[in-house]
Amino acid sequence: KRIVVVASGRGSNFQAVIEALQRKWIPGECVALVTDNPKAFAIERAQEAGVPVVVVDYGSYASRELYEQALLAALKEARPDLVILAGYMRILGSAIVREYAGMMINIHPALLPSFTGLHAQRQALLHGVKITGCTVHFVDESLDGGPIILQRSVRVMDDDDEDTLANRILIQEHIALPEAVRLFCEDRLTIEGRRVRTRL
Ligand code: GRF
Repeated sequence: KRIVVVASGRGSNFQAVIEALQRKWIPGECVALVTDNPKAFAIERAQEAGVPVVVVDYGSYASRELYEQALLAALKEARPDLVILAGYMRILGSAIVREYAGMMINIHPALLPSFTGLHAQRQALLHGVKITGCTVHFVDESLDGGPIILQRSVRVMDDDDEDTLANRILIQEHIALPEAVRLFCEDRLTIEGRRVRTRL
């Protein structure tokens, strides 16, 4: 399958997917990294792996609408079978979400439906939960609310701060995201209402 990754920053989840593709653990090919941030470290990771980079610089568009149009055009140009949001830090417009319904997944650093939106790890600490984790889910028009593909749990320690907790969750993200991408690329996922069925 043709995979396009959309990332805004560090790109460690992107890296985890690249490595799983290189090992041929995931059947597919990363055909583009699309980023809204010309300074994203993910760009260097793409160059290192020989993945074409498309920068759609949010700051260079006069309006959110024009930016979204350019982003959609960049995605279409890459003809993806799967779009992965791997640390894309903006809310996607509904035109893009509709275009890639059932073909776009996101990784979120909490056990959804808890702690949607930004700073999920901080929200978990403030709430005092003892277990949190990460979720890979299909993207729909709700914020972090689409059908869940898989989740991995992480314990919250008494002395955790945002960084230590985020790092412990990140280790699980790097397992969960490639796993979900593999299931998708092997055509083993079906969406049935809110639920995702996984074929063994
Ligand atoms: C991850 O925690 C991801 O769940 C969240 O943003 C972070 C991105 O990290 N959406 P990275 O860019 O993949 O290193």
